[in-house]
Amino acid sequence: MRVLVACEFSGVVRRAFRNVGHDAWSCDLLPAEDDQTHHITGDVAGVLEALPHCWDLMIAHPPCTHLAVSGARWFKDKLPQQAEALDFVRLLLSAPIPLICLENPISIISSRIRKPDQIIQPWQFGHGETKATCLWLKGLPELQPTQIVEGRENRVHRMPPGPDRWRERSRTFAGIAEAMARQWGSLAQEQAA
Ligand SMILES: C[S@@+](CC[C@H](N)C(=O)[O-])C[C@H]1O[C@@H](n2cnc3c(N)ncnc32)[C@H](O)[C@@H]1O
Repeated sequence: MRVLVACEFSGVVRRAFRNVGHDAWSCDLLPAEDDQTHHITGDVAGVLEALPHCWDLMIAHPPCTHLAVSGARWFKDKLPQQAEALDFVRLLLSAPIPLICLENPISIISSRIRKPDQIIQPWQFGHGETKATCLWLKGLPELQPTQIVEGRENRVHRMPPGPDRWRERSRTFAGIAEAMARQWGSLAQEQAA
């Protein structure tokens, strides 16, 4: 399957899909942290415009800076940025790709576009941490928990300020990426067969 991982610099989801045999590519305005070989550095809108029907599945991680409800106290000062961020989400959700998962924290996407299909937690996928993550799904079943663990730490909230804090906070959990690749990758293969 050809998989586009939109808005990913870390390569976590790309690697998970490639590890189980898919032709996965990440795309981000930033270069990939790990390996440029299967990464497109640039605007994903341009990739979707240039190669609209090339992809079987897209996993998208658009920025939540202007959307997450954790930043609600600043909402009134950033209405234009919010409108732009919502338009970007709409563009991703309406891409002509049969299978789509768009991921974001609890955000105004729920009230302004539609409610998420599922809310998952890292502790359902082997990481002893809490971080409610909403999934908007097209053509995909809900992601099934793979390993429920006891820990319920909120590591990202405790991270000290610093230039790389946002990177660590936004990096996808490997257990969630592996579940996506195993569960949705095989589904995409079944559909193509
Ligand atoms: C919340 S982070 C997601 C990080 C991701 N979970 C990972 O593990 O790499 C959002 C990312 O979207 C990227 N981004 C923002 N606008 C973009 C665009 N138009 N095209 C591609 N990437 C974009 C940012 O550079 C940022 O890395």
